[in-house]
Amino acid sequence: MGYFYLGLLLFCSLLLVFASGSVRNLPIIPFDEGYTPLFGDDNLVIHRDGKSVHLTLDDRTGSGFVSQDLYLHGYFSASIKLPADYTAGVVVAFYMSNGDMFEKNHDEIDFEFLGNIRGKDWRIQTNVYGNGSTSIGREERYGLWFDPAEDFHQYSILWSDSKIIFYVDHVPIREVKRTESMGGDFPSKPMTLYATIWDASNWATNGGKYRVNYKYAPYIAEFSDLILHGCSVDPIEHISKCDNAQIPSGVTPIQRTKMENFRKKHMTYSYCYDRVRYKVPPSECVISPQEAERLRVFDPVTFGKGRRHHGKQKHRHNQASQAVASSF
Ligand SMILES: *[C@@H]1O[C@H](CO)[C@@H](O)[C@H](O)[C@H]1NC(C)=O
Repeated sequence: MGYFYLGLLLFCSLLLVFASGSVRNLPIIPFDEGYTPLFGDDNLVIHRDGKSVHLTLDDRTGSGFVSQDLYLHGYFSASIKLPADYTAGVVVAFYMSNGDMFEKNHDEIDFEFLGNIRGKDWRIQTNVYGNGSTSIGREERYGLWFDPAEDFHQYSILWSDSKIIFYVDHVPIREVKRTESMGGDFPSKPMTLYATIWDASNWATNGGKYRVNYKYAPYIAEFSDLILHGCSVDPIEHISKCDNAQIPSGVTPIQRTKMENFRKKHMTYSYCYDRVRYKVPPSECVISPQEAERLRVFDPVTFGKGRRHHGKQKHRHNQASQAVASSF
């Protein structure tokens, strides 16, 4: 009897830990146990501790690694330090995808770090594709409240069957709730986790205006504290080996306030308000007049009222759209 209650207590406190959205103290996986090099040969260097990895971009190649397992849902996290100084055209990506298995109807969840010219900060972009929905980009972009090239910061993706949450240093910055109308656009097939650095000269910085300058190479992105906490899936039979209860879930009221504050201060782009790309916002968008106004002040062309623009402005916007429409 006593053991039963002790067990129940333990079980409930475990549930509480997860329900409260606490994702600290999850096990950090040594590189060799969870990942494998993807490309770039010796531009990928594993530290002696076995837990940190350097990804380098130089004039020969970028580099990247990928998780050994496929996952259906979970919490995926890395502590990342981005290259400093002049990084225009450089992209560091931390993302989930199954593009190699499903060419026509792949799923994808992205953190993309877009380099910048000297003196200007890195920007982050988040995006989601489901079942090949690449004609609808669901990008958001943000500045950060710190210099991501100065130190390590934690970037995390939580993916369940009902929502996707992006975190920076445990602060949720975006929540994508699955809605009925999204249909297959919500990622729902098993994916692997990727980390890459590559030359995105054609679109990364101001739609390709600033290209990678190899005078400043090598560009080195450092990864550590790699967390793979998900339901791994057999690649052949697609059978999941765990149940969803173990995935940390939800945004607490305190976190939600933090998220709203972050978005007010740091969000610079949201597809939901882009009147040039979407005359009618995609169905899952919940339009907030305050948010619309904030973005309009920031960029009246993109977030304006859908009036026709001409000349220079139009040209500029076409480049930007092309930039965000690109994928891997
Ligand atoms: C995903 O795409 C495939 C192929 O285009 C289609 O047959 C399937 O119904 C789609 N699934 C969902 C959930 O929309």
